[in-house]
Amino acid sequence: MIKKCLFPAAGYGTRFLPATKAMPKEMLPILTKPLIQYGVEEAKEAGCNIMAIVTGRGKRAIEDHFDISYELEYQIKGSQKEELLHQIRELIDNCTFTYTRQKEMKGLGDAILKGKALLGEDSPFAVILADDLCINPKGSNVLKQMVQVYKKYKCSIIAIMEVDKNSTDKYGIISGKEIEKNIYKVANMVEKPEVSKAPSNLAIIGRYILTPDIFDIIKDTKPGKNGEVQITDALLTQAKEGKVIAYKFDGLRFDCGNVNGFVEATNYFYKYNKTV
Ligand code: UTP
Repeated sequence: MIKKCLFPAAGYGTRFLPATKAMPKEMLPILTKPLIQYGVEEAKEAGCNIMAIVTGRGKRAIEDHFDISYELEYQIKGSQKEELLHQIRELIDNCTFTYTRQKEMKGLGDAILKGKALLGEDSPFAVILADDLCINPKGSNVLKQMVQVYKKYKCSIIAIMEVDKNSTDKYGIISGKEIEKNIYKVANMVEKPEVSKAPSNLAIIGRYILTPDIFDIIKDTKPGKNGEVQITDALLTQAKEGKVIAYKFDGLRFDCGNVNGFVEATNYFYKYNKTV
């Protein structure tokens, strides 16, 4: 039902400088796999086969990663190392990758709007922020859970989690009515509110399913917090019409856009989820 997944990956990744000076943040590996590959695997498992990636200057490594490397494959053919490329080759063979560039970093909302050229306007689509690494050791991955919620409510779905009350200023925060266990009809949402003004401690993380009317709404959304076009502001317009559901997902989320989260993810994957 949701076949297309958008990966906004144009951000500068300044919290990871100097590593991200010439390399995209999305290519930083947790063990041997780049963050964006985890995201693409999640999308594929959730039923998507079109991966639309919004890149920027200095991000060409992402395109090369999702392309065949004949020389390399020839070099390791017949050796044990061949199997190290199986997972990525599987993605390359079974998904279509499309790219566009966000020329100026005008915010996540603007990056999503750039994706319109790749996605078209006729169907809902998923969005994964690859620096939010999500796993569910006990069952379906987070996007797959959200697809189930979409099937029931047929409107935009955002993934949320409870955060410490003192850290609401790092997230988009929602408030709303819990209409089913872990499912909220969103009434209000604010991007990075001051701790004293946060409407709740339910924070939006980097997984969305969006209905395509969001593109026109983003076009009409003025730059907000930090002078950037915020997807949270655009979603608020949909929420006011009762068309946004927030879903408290089952699983774990690592904020790999900052060093602490990245190290936590690395330790977790080394201990519990080693694939090497
Ligand atoms: P972040 O807030 O993590 O920003 O963006 P960033 O630039 O990647 O990292 P820092 O804060 O400088 O360290 C959240 C997501 O939105 C994308 C980023 O690539 C990331 O996946 N994004 C953000 C864009 O694609 N374009 C933008 O203009 C802003």
